[in-house]
Amino acid sequence: QKRWTVPMLGEARAAGRKLVMLTSYDASFARVLDDNGIDLILIGDSLGMVVQGFDSTLPVRVDDIAYHTAAVARGATRALKIADFPFGSDGSALEAHAAAVRFIQAGASMVKLEGAGHKLETIRYLVEREIPVCAHLGLTPQSVHRFGGFKVQGREDAAAAKLCEDALAVADAGAALLVLEGVPAALASRITAASPIPTIGIGAGSGCDGQVLVLHDLLGLDTGHRKPKFVKDFLVEGGSVAGAIRAYADAVRDGRFPDAEHAYA
Ligand code: KIV
Ligand code: NA
Repeated sequence: QKRWTVPMLGEARAAGRKLVMLTSYDASFARVLDDNGIDLILIGDSLGMVVQGFDSTLPVRVDDIAYHTAAVARGATRALKIADFPFGSDGSALEAHAAAVRFIQAGASMVKLEGAGHKLETIRYLVEREIPVCAHLGLTPQSVHRFGGFKVQGREDAAAAKLCEDALAVADAGAALLVLEGVPAALASRITAASPIPTIGIGAGSGCDGQVLVLHDLLGLDTGHRKPKFVKDFLVEGGSVAGAIRAYADAVRDGRFPDAEHAYA
């Protein structure tokens, strides 16, 4: 089986192959993901909620992401590993670079950051220094205080136009991948059609170039947090942990997930 590299992301999109991403935080699960059809493993700051038990992603630290990235990298050799900047670690290009070097040295091939605006400078700074970047727009969980909760973004015309503009801007700054979270399906399709880089949806409908879920949600675990509409328990049909991950990967590749029931109109 092939080992995923950053250039392969655009190649997969050009070939019409869906990208299948899932989060993992440790070596054992990473190994199962690697063996069951997952292309991209995100060491997400969602670990603050599903591993550490906080009610947002804000308390996560750079040390935590570096630690979990190293563990995942020991378990998965085939999938592309993407490490998530925790809140406050990407406030300046210089700080972001210092954290990103740790993530790359821990085994990540790409780093992910939320937002556009002043982050565009950071994206450019990292890409120029050989650190591939995945952008993340829409319902960015680190914006929880400004949003006043975890709310679907881009419902009004002005907000939708801003999202489209930001999507083009992050690609222009050099991002190689774009996660769209919690946006109406039609808007995510529109952004994907206009985007020069592959898009990965979560709560963004089936029109994206790929999908991502949080591992614990896919396994139907009760994490103590309210489950968003797009979450699906694949353990029921998969029958085992490996089967659930395989069922998710197959459903994304066939275009069966997400269906309308797991998207925002
Ligand atoms: O931290 C995370 O798991 C994420 C995904 C939900 C995209 O950012
Ligand atoms: Na995240």
